[in-house]
Amino acid sequence: MVPFLIAYASWSGNTEEVAEIIEEKLLQGGIDVVVHRIGTVPVPDVRQFDAMIIGSFTWDRGATPDEVKDFVADVGYKPEHVYVFGTGDTQFGGDDLFCNAAVKLAWFYHSAIAPLKIEQSPRGSQEQTVIEWSKGVVQHWKHLHALKC
Ligand SMILES: Cc1cc2nc3c(=O)[nH]c(=O)nc-3n(C[C@H](O)[C@H](O)[C@H](O)COP(=O)(O)O)c2cc1C
Repeated sequence: MVPFLIAYASWSGNTEEVAEIIEEKLLQGGIDVVVHRIGTVPVPDVRQFDAMIIGSFTWDRGATPDEVKDFVADVGYKPEHVYVFGTGDTQFGGDDLFCNAAVKLAWFYHSAIAPLKIEQSPRGSQEQTVIEWSKGVVQHWKHLHALKC
């Protein structure tokens, strides 16, 4: 079984960059990963994975992009272990709407850790935030695994 699916949607590359950093950190943490760009086919069978990380940008006054909503519908159920990240821009509605798609996805999936919120590109000072969040995911996952053994 492949432990983690990273599924992300990105139009201009910011969310994709975050996905790449997360992938790198998970691999370094000894977790195998499959990456899926939302909106492409085939849609992966999420049941084949132990956990899913889903990433989305936010659009149109706090909205979740249609392709992300379609992906969630295609998945068709709420997997038990889902971690969420997103990119956004505070100039579109301030803190209230910042990364709102990620906030809503984390709520929808009852994510065990808070969603990662990145302002635009993660390169530079925010890269460390992505790295710390990824480490937190690895730790959480390994803790769950230890409980199961
Ligand atoms: C028309 C438009 C509306 C946007 N609305 C929001 C918003 O409501 N909240 C937010 O946090 N970011 C908003 N953004 C910013 C994008 O989410 C941000 O640029 C994101 O990093 C783009 O991701 P991508 O490069 O992966 O496509 C908006 C951007 C555009 C162009």
